[in-house]
Amino acid sequence: MIKTIEWKNDRVIMIDQRKLPEKEIYFVCSDYRQVIKAIKEMVIRGAPAIGIAAAMGAALGAKSIETRNLDDFKVRFNKICEEIGRARPTAVNLSWALKRMQNLVEKSSIKKTETLKKTLIQEARSILSEDIAINKRLGFIGQKVIKDRATVLTHCNAGALATGGYGTALGVIRAAKEAGKQVQVIADETRPFLQGARLTAWELVRDHIPVTLITDNMAGYLMKKGLIDVVIVGADRIAANGDTANKIGTYSVAISAKEHGIPFYVAAPCSTIDHQIKTGEDIPIEERNEKEVTHIGGKRIAPPGVSVLNPAFDVTPHSFIAGIITEKGLLKAPYRRSIAKVRQKG
Ligand code: MRU
Repeated sequence: MIKTIEWKNDRVIMIDQRKLPEKEIYFVCSDYRQVIKAIKEMVIRGAPAIGIAAAMGAALGAKSIETRNLDDFKVRFNKICEEIGRARPTAVNLSWALKRMQNLVEKSSIKKTETLKKTLIQEARSILSEDIAINKRLGFIGQKVIKDRATVLTHCNAGALATGGYGTALGVIRAAKEAGKQVQVIADETRPFLQGARLTAWELVRDHIPVTLITDNMAGYLMKKGLIDVVIVGADRIAANGDTANKIGTYSVAISAKEHGIPFYVAAPCSTIDHQIKTGEDIPIEERNEKEVTHIGGKRIAPPGVSVLNPAFDVTPHSFIAGIITEKGLLKAPYRRSIAKVRQKG
């Protein structure tokens, strides 16, 4: 299995996703600031994976706090969490994981800071192992939407690399294969960062799941030709009404799918649902460096001086979504109700 991130010998080790597929090298963090850098610079990316990285970063930060005074420790720990929380704005898993770490400190009856530090490391490791189990569970639930011999279109990378392992959208595809179905995947390349071409294609080729790479502008044509049966994507933040933020270009895929009567599913853990946000209008959208658009593989492709837009995510309105696959079940419209129900389940 691909190891996206792990805690080993008091260090956080991540596969460097900027270098894939050419090189399989690892980025080692022994300081929480290196984890922030890794998240900002996309060494690690994908909503659940950056949540895990944030939790491990917080554990590294806690380790570096030199005080035996509990109140002092709490103040400094919360500051570190706030700093990590600013690394990227759209994926809610980042703040979800940090809140979980902060709650642990807040509610713990442990008085010794050294013991608390060990408990935080354990909590971060649990977030990782739980994420893998959640993906397997949602994969099992979601594979039912994939028919035998289906062709699935996916956008960006919602695979093992974007999570603790197994993946969300790709987890559903893996589970369909494990259930004995023949599945093939069409992967959008996902400009500008090319998560589809570099990461999804790499993962699926490794797993011997048939995958065909296309550029983003080809999806509509393939849909019209009847070559896509179902669309499954991941999510960075789901609002209480089901509106879903995911990688830029997802909205266009959803529009095309609706036009051609192709079901469009979102696969995500419940930690990606932001119950505080009523609609997608309130989801913050990250703007990234214009170089991601003007350059490909380090080579400039656009004239100097041209103005550039680079929103990293868009929001697909809930009315375009056939279902949201979570570890607690396949959520259907009306989403306000089905999403509120999973919240009550705890
Ligand atoms: O900018 P990225 O690569 O972090 O964006 C990732 C996505 O949009 C994924 O589809 C999403 O995080 C779901 S990952 C299971």
